[in-house]
Amino acid sequence: MWRGKKVLLGVTGSIAAYKTTFLTRLLIKAGAEVKVVLSPAARDFVTPLTLATLSKNPVLWEYFDSEDDSGTWNNHVELALWADLIIIAPATSNTLGKMVSGTCDNLLLGVYMSAKCPIYFAPAMDLDMYRHPATRENIQKLQSFGHHFIPAGKGELASGLEGEGRMAEPEEIIAFVEEDMNIRSPLKGKKILINAGPTHEAIDPVRFIGNHSSGKMGVALAEQASALGAQVFLVLGPGSARPGDSTIEVHDVVSADEMNEACQEIFTNMDIAILSAAVADYKPAKKADQKIKKSGDNLEILLVENPDILRGLGERKSDGQVLVGFALETQNAVPNAIQKLHKKNCDLIVLNTPSEKGSGFGYDTNEVILIGRDEKTHTLELKSKSEIAKEILDHICNHLLA
Ligand code: PMT
Repeated sequence: MWRGKKVLLGVTGSIAAYKTTFLTRLLIKAGAEVKVVLSPAARDFVTPLTLATLSKNPVLWEYFDSEDDSGTWNNHVELALWADLIIIAPATSNTLGKMVSGTCDNLLLGVYMSAKCPIYFAPAMDLDMYRHPATRENIQKLQSFGHHFIPAGKGELASGLEGEGRMAEPEEIIAFVEEDMNIRSPLKGKKILINAGPTHEAIDPVRFIGNHSSGKMGVALAEQASALGAQVFLVLGPGSARPGDSTIEVHDVVSADEMNEACQEIFTNMDIAILSAAVADYKPAKKADQKIKKSGDNLEILLVENPDILRGLGERKSDGQVLVGFALETQNAVPNAIQKLHKKNCDLIVLNTPSEKGSGFGYDTNEVILIGRDEKTHTLELKSKSEIAKEILDHICNHLLA
């Protein structure tokens, strides 16, 4: 599960910080990519050089280097969005309190506040601090934010006292995260085909018929499906978006014929297929061998129909396979989408009505209506394509998977 996972390790100022060196080593050995961000106090306990050497990445602890006049700074948002998951170990009582209150006075807290991925925190502190009502309340509050608490262990503490408060051992942290991620991976063991982007239909060697799809919606679906544990096969047209997750198997195609061939072949072994690509309905009957010259007269190009990929998959889908189509409609949207759902034998159709407020081609956001075979509609209001993708996949998991 760790292979290719991007793990941001946050280290705060506790003697248990020395164990983070072992945690880093274990994560790297398991195949994860690790970046370490320290709180300023953590540097009193463990050196950036040690963690940089083990993680094979620079270690950061401040928004900008006060001795560097070049104006370069460490972008907390980029770091947060890079991470597939964040582990804060050790998490001191000071840091827990700041996370709860939204205090952002160091780089690690800025990263934490900007993160959208799962966050795990492994507290380390002395026994009375660990038992203190403020700490108990902070832990509960962080759990209510959706973060995951890795309980501290019992034993001899740095103060010499015996009791609860020792940070969980690195092996225990790894086992905890693995178990938790498995539970939260409803698509584990599932294979998903997703297509995305536009197709380009060649007129001659330098011109084509295309559309404005960027591929962002399909790439977001692929990334979210992978995060939920699926093995993802992405058939990607020539848009601008590409997945950052290296575990996704990308098949690059250009034309509708190429996309059709790839999808038909991959579909055979799939549990789920989601067709979000904006496939050109027509292509030039013949591609000119050489660049077409201007003749001073009008030029007519005969267009012939492309294969309908979704319909083809709908015709051969077997009982256990889930097929999800998209529909892009500018008028009479819901009835047209319902017609497509039945005609193409889909289990679910995602209706996209392009609008200038941020849905459809090219935007980072989208707004869609999900329609099932019972023709009931479920609207997903305007939000990022990643969030829309996650909600579409949640809907599939909750309503369409056996
Ligand atoms: O890529 P982005 O910039 O992020 O934009 C996302 C999007 C707007 C492209 C996406 O959200 C979307 O709406 N995709 C479907 C676009 C479309 O072509 O819809 P359609 O109503 O023409 O087609 C209906 C369904 O049939 C779609 O699943 C389509 O992939 C499929 N189809 C269409 C034609 C064809 N020849 N073969 C197909 O498989």
